[in-house]
Amino acid sequence: MRRLAALFLLCCHVAFAAIPAPRAGENTPKYEWRGMHLDVSRHFFEPAVVREFIDRMAALKLNRLHLHLTDGPGWRVEIKSYPRLTEVGAWRKDLEKENWDWPEIRLGKDFPKVEGGFYTQQELRALVAYARERGVMIVPEVDLPGHSYAALVAYPELARADFAEMGLRGGDVMDTENPQTLAFAKTVLRELMDIFPPDTPLHLGGDEVMAEYASPEQQRMWMQELVDFVRAHGREAITWDDAAMNGVTGQVVMVWQPAHMDAMLRSGAPLILCPCSHFYFDYRQRPEDKGMGDAVISLEKVFSYRIPEGNIRGIQGNVWTEHISTPEQLFYMAFPRAAAVAERAWGSEERPFAEFEEDVKED
Ligand code: ACM
Repeated sequence: MRRLAALFLLCCHVAFAAIPAPRAGENTPKYEWRGMHLDVSRHFFEPAVVREFIDRMAALKLNRLHLHLTDGPGWRVEIKSYPRLTEVGAWRKDLEKENWDWPEIRLGKDFPKVEGGFYTQQELRALVAYARERGVMIVPEVDLPGHSYAALVAYPELARADFAEMGLRGGDVMDTENPQTLAFAKTVLRELMDIFPPDTPLHLGGDEVMAEYASPEQQRMWMQELVDFVRAHGREAITWDDAAMNGVTGQVVMVWQPAHMDAMLRSGAPLILCPCSHFYFDYRQRPEDKGMGDAVISLEKVFSYRIPEGNIRGIQGNVWTEHISTPEQLFYMAFPRAAAVAERAWGSEERPFAEFEEDVKED
């Protein structure tokens, strides 16, 4: 899902000022989690861009920013105990293309021209405070044990023995049989707990770990230990639905795979819904948009989503950035679709799409 290869060109821009706040029947939102996700790993966005993203969310009365801080192509959070994560893992050879390109990726700084970046702990604390003043909680994700290529290039001792052959072919998985990897993850999580206030959940990832790289039982035990670790520190843990489907319990589950929706609703676990059928804002929003594969998730499609009954914390729009490299593209893809997330998450009165669309006019 996250690996659609295509070229995206910006063709128009939506006016920020034109997007109104959602029309809730009364001034109480229906769902606690009214979120947007931002992938800062595939492409890094400076703190000023994140602040603007927060401003736009706040204007829509969205209240959770899920920052996808780590993934294969870039590690974006300073971890003082493991400095190579950002010395090496936050940079890559500049391919001088608009799009990040997985097969050709080369991590590190030893190239004539590099791209990338990371947030220092101080910068993250400042972003957290900025967001709080605007009613937005930033929720960090470190994606473990898969999607870890950047961490493994920085610390190859955490990788499986066959990492060198498999790294770029999807084997970007920590060696879950090596106890050092759990110690690493706990150290990273401890530092995150020092940055993010005590009411902030920690998202541990847990998606797309292929069984050939870590057996389902091994993955389950490894993730369960981390979920329990976070909870023992008085916080909620979050994982993607993959981990819950594999038997990990006790966490809030973020459901991205429509095929898992019914099972997750039946499980009774608290859920944040962001099915890729409606809430993946890396997919183009109009047929005439360039690239992003064949899928189109229009504003109307997002607006048409009806939140099922169940133990639902809320919903979220996800902005993966494999093919989004500039702030202009980012804001074009995220808004106004985020306005439809707000409308649904607030539980606004039913109204015709045409009326909603009028409110989100383009310039
Ligand atoms: C995901 O898109 N792998 C969460």
